Amino acid sequence: MARTKTLYRCSECGSTEPKWTGRCNGCEAWGTLIEELTGGTGAGAPVTMLPPSSPPIQISDVDPTEFNPKPTGVAELDRVLGGGLIPGSVTLLGGEPGIGKSTVLLQAAAEVAASGRKVLYLSGEESAQQVRLRAERLGALHPMLWLATEVALPQVLGAIAEVEPELVIVDSVQTLLNPDLASTPGSVAQVRECTHRLVQEAKRRGCAIVLVGHVTKEGALAGPRVLEHMVDTVLSFEGDRHHALRLLRVVKHRFGSTQELGLFEMAEKGLKGVPDASGMFLADRRLGIPGSVVVPTLEGARPLLVELQALTTPSTLPSPRRSAQGIDNGRLSLLLAVLQQRVGVPTGQVDVYALAVGGVKIVEPGADLALGLALVSSLTGVPLPADLVACGEVGLGGELRQVAHTPRRLAEASRLGFKRAILPFSAPAPPPGIVAIRVGTLIDAVERLDLLPA
Ligand code: TYD
Ligand code: MG
Repeated sequence: MARTKTLYRCSECGSTEPKWTGRCNGCEAWGTLIEELTGGTGAGAPVTMLPPSSPPIQISDVDPTEFNPKPTGVAELDRVLGGGLIPGSVTLLGGEPGIGKSTVLLQAAAEVAASGRKVLYLSGEESAQQVRLRAERLGALHPMLWLATEVALPQVLGAIAEVEPELVIVDSVQTLLNPDLASTPGSVAQVRECTHRLVQEAKRRGCAIVLVGHVTKEGALAGPRVLEHMVDTVLSFEGDRHHALRLLRVVKHRFGSTQELGLFEMAEKGLKGVPDASGMFLADRRLGIPGSVVVPTLEGARPLLVELQALTTPSTLPSPRRSAQGIDNGRLSLLLAVLQQRVGVPTGQVDVYALAVGGVKIVEPGADLALGLALVSSLTGVPLPADLVACGEVGLGGELRQVAHTPRRLAEASRLGFKRAILPFSAPAPPPGIVAIRVGTLIDAVERLDLLPA
């Protein structure tokens, strides 16, 4: 095989250059050249036919038990993965720095080690001492948990060969380095090449590999996005750093559903699973305050009850303030416009603050009705009933539309003691324990709940 070389390929038109240039000579696009390895097997090399390394078999002869997930022992992580990690699979865990990726994986590593399976934790970001200190704090010191601080790919592969673990954690993929490439660690070329090698290694050895990938606030990254199609599973760890709540979502999963959601709380001793998130969100709720209403949202397949709050004050500003936290700014503006035009509630001279309690982000339009009611309630000073939830999308005409999976949302509301739900006419029947108040428009809803002063 010829010696490995590197060249630069344009990600737009595919033409290659021996040296990096700012502009592609083929298509004249700027900044599109990415380094890649080429060797005897590179593009343009003749291909010889060989017998297949794994002969084709009939589809019904494939052994499905090969894909049995093995639990990590961290319940919320296993829930999201549909039971656990599949041997031979590669999972990417993305998230902003400081969100808790290393913490959750160290906890999972310790649980797997405690169940008698070998784990190798490769830390390229923190020293062995730092990882040990954290492991002590998390109660994660275990003889089956091995640690290495290698970043160069040959040594990483060497460490895997030496320990022969069932689970490998690479923290993070942005620190990995293939010395054959001139690009710096964290560049697209490096993360892509290193991940490619690790995917091969996982398949060859039948060990599960979890890669940590940092994502910046803007979502721009040298890393996770370019890796999504190379790995089997992509998880995203999200949350607001000022709140304890962390959400673990599945972005891609070759072995199961992408509807599951994991919930954690960052505590003194690491991340704790939150089996009853709705209860946690509503724990500090005060009743009888105007501008507050509970909305049954759905995160993936998981219903979550979240309190929405709105506060309006007379504005002295030429263009009044609109501040939304955890709620889409566009949705807030839309509802203020609908209130003004369709419900006849003036909103032009007030500052408006709206938030979703607990650091959650509500993006779905199913929270429109709740937000509209919270705004009217704050404007008129009339509180909404404490045992009420609101569920519906508001159109520009003020008309209401049903949202998906209403019964599942309302079952969660019923579990937490809510008795009434205000719903669009088209919504399916609520589960037992919940009385439906059916309305056609936002103005109907406001009138049925007596929110307008007489
Ligand atoms: P970390 O797992 O290092 O984040 P990431 O790997 O995603 O960058 O988590 C860092 C934050 O978590 C840090 O701000 C401290 C906090 N933390 C706790 O609150 N409790 C704990 O037990 C641990 C280990 C960390
Ligand atoms: Mg980390």
